[in-house]
Amino acid sequence: MKDAIQMVDLKSQYLKIKPEIDKALFDAVEEVAYINGPQVKKFVSSLQKFNNVTSAVTCANGTDALQIAMMGLDFKPGDEVIVPAFTYIATVEVIALLGLVPKFIDVKEDTFELDYTKLEDVISDKTVGIIPVHLFGQCSNMEAIIEIAKKHNIAIIEDTAQAMGSEYIYQDGSKAFAGTIGDIGTTSFFPSKNLGCFGDGGALLTQNAELGEKINMIANHGQRKKYHHETIGVNSRLDTIQAAILDVKLGYLNDYSAARQKVAAKYDSAFNSLSGLNIPARAKYSTHVFNQYTCRIEKGRRDEFKSYLQEKGIPSMVYYPIPVHLQQAYKIYGYQEGDFPIAERLCKEVISLPIHTEMKDNVQNYIIENVVNFFK
Ligand SMILES: Cc1ncc(COP(=O)(O)O)c(C=O)c1O
Repeated sequence: MKDAIQMVDLKSQYLKIKPEIDKALFDAVEEVAYINGPQVKKFVSSLQKFNNVTSAVTCANGTDALQIAMMGLDFKPGDEVIVPAFTYIATVEVIALLGLVPKFIDVKEDTFELDYTKLEDVISDKTVGIIPVHLFGQCSNMEAIIEIAKKHNIAIIEDTAQAMGSEYIYQDGSKAFAGTIGDIGTTSFFPSKNLGCFGDGGALLTQNAELGEKINMIANHGQRKKYHHETIGVNSRLDTIQAAILDVKLGYLNDYSAARQKVAAKYDSAFNSLSGLNIPARAKYSTHVFNQYTCRIEKGRRDEFKSYLQEKGIPSMVYYPIPVHLQQAYKIYGYQEGDFPIAERLCKEVISLPIHTEMKDNVQNYIIENVVNFFK
């Protein structure tokens, strides 16, 4: 390979739509409305339309989006929030920061989602929220989660940071975008996300107009009218420049999803029959937009496989090497090794291979050839 293989090729993605992006950037700079400029309003409206949702609120990043969601739902210190033990730390961090108590549950070995069959084991009279994480680009089983949440009057925040553009498929065949099904959906526009900007960014989605107004206020110092602070808020804004970029890129999101799905399908057919490598499972209730193509490597060979790929010049990532309940910072909640065996095992087995919108055939062929050789 002449050029280094990348996990994500953001440069080529930019070059493909450079004139449009450059114009959007130039216009935003010329306009000089760097904070809450017209591009932010335009992007909010585009995001709302794309997702077919009542309210969209932009903010500074996906972690803030989670915090604003929990504040908007009036979660109070001491309240309990259920989260999967296998997720990115941001999902849990905000719970801890707000003085809430994370209640971890295990995940499903094949789809990596929160194991909804275990929800009722941890629900107590202090439980106020469940956060399904649509990990790696595929929706959790929302109907199963909603049924339990409704029964116990618990709110649902969908962590959609990795799954923008993915669609949940209801049992009757109808579809809804990830992040628009629970009470609030949160997302991140971190550059490597499926809809990524050129820095940090985030958003919240809700079908509840009143809640939408409230979270909009919270993201903006708790004010609706300047200097009239109705509620305690935060300062979390999406920059005008980022909104301008995102508004252009949103127009390509479906193409981006299709490009990732094509790469995934090619990996699938090449790896399907390999012994020792499990390709990512597809849930029947979701489309998959492959923010990551994450395989499970059996027989304790994951790290050996990772080193082998590195020798061949193929990057890979382990999302995530340690489950949240065993992270040093979260030991205060008293969990121990063995509490969530599937999450713990996945941390030893998972590996994510390069996948992005600009994957070239010769590069993917090289990756495939080397992966296949390892398991032969
Ligand atoms: C599942 C999940 N939740 C939340 C976040 C936080 O998003 P951000 O990095 O924009 O704060 C991320 C980002 O990687 C994520 O993957």
